[in-house]
Amino acid sequence: MSAEELSPVEEVKKALDGGALVIDIRAADSSDAFKGIFSVVDGSISAPWDRANKTMPLSAFPEDKTATIVLHCNSGRRVNAAVPFLKEKGYINLLNAGGPAESEVFPVFGERIHKHDFETVSITQLFDGPKPQGGGSATYTYILADSKTKEAIIIDPVLEQVDRDLEVISSQGLTLTQALNTHCHADHITGTGELKKRVGGLRSAISAASGAKADVMLKEGESICWSDGRPLLRVLSTPGHTNGCVSFVCEPLGAVFTGDVLLIGGCGRTDFQEGSAADLYDSVHNKLFTLPDDTIVYPAHDYKGRLRSTIKTEKITNPRLAKSKEEFAQIMANLNLPYPAQIDRALPANLVCGC
Ligand SMILES: [Fe+2]
Repeated sequence: MSAEELSPVEEVKKALDGGALVIDIRAADSSDAFKGIFSVVDGSISAPWDRANKTMPLSAFPEDKTATIVLHCNSGRRVNAAVPFLKEKGYINLLNAGGPAESEVFPVFGERIHKHDFETVSITQLFDGPKPQGGGSATYTYILADSKTKEAIIIDPVLEQVDRDLEVISSQGLTLTQALNTHCHADHITGTGELKKRVGGLRSAISAASGAKADVMLKEGESICWSDGRPLLRVLSTPGHTNGCVSFVCEPLGAVFTGDVLLIGGCGRTDFQEGSAADLYDSVHNKLFTLPDDTIVYPAHDYKGRLRSTIKTEKITNPRLAKSKEEFAQIMANLNLPYPAQIDRALPANLVCGC
């Protein structure tokens, strides 16, 4: 076979060796997320193909439309559907790295793909969409479920989505036992208070440094466990967006829930709620960026439709945090963001919502 007659698999391999960008176009409901195993291509960027609306967030794509891009999904069908859309947008060098996961994709990606064995833990990622159906906060809420104890733990619930969250939990036959907040939010009212009214025995948690009330006040290094004592999450104090921000490291998932400290290609603002650009930079560089490179980053928001990232991707591509501390401080000082629309309503409520 000559160089011009490479098989599709060989073509993808050659592109990866040449440093091609890998874009993962699977959606949150991608089937492998519910099989107990989720795979993430190391260094890939998330840009889910929206099957219903035939579109995807192009913010993850390079400006250079001649760049070689490897598109990944489970079966290749999602990629096939997305390619005409991308060609219409001017991208010309697109490779399909979808395919039966075991036989084609994994040998191609080789060491670059990381399978996370969820053991008994599964994750549901939910989004607070625009009003009037949603609260309009673009918040990601996460429901972690344990098939052994049939418990659920929710991270960053949103008031307007309490019905949805309880439906997801009951449809999986789970009991909600803990509601965690990564910080005292300024852009939406947490669903924790309403959940506590509706779920007997539910315990709320937020960091002690947040100044908010909850049943459990979290501190650096503490573990959050299932009821039989198995640890699920480790608390990392990651101040900077607010003084009381924490991230939750989930070793069984190979993941970290970063709240607003580290977003996909961005970070939370640092100009109110005792925010500090220097502290945020230190939190990310000294804590989050010391996690294994293939750790999946699940943020509290994304405004461009992306679902997840990895520590390695953010280290390399985050346009703010891949820079020096001085450059980062300059960027944050010049964002000129408007006063948050919900802050006067959300902050007082969130300070007492977990009690
Ligand atoms: Fe926030």
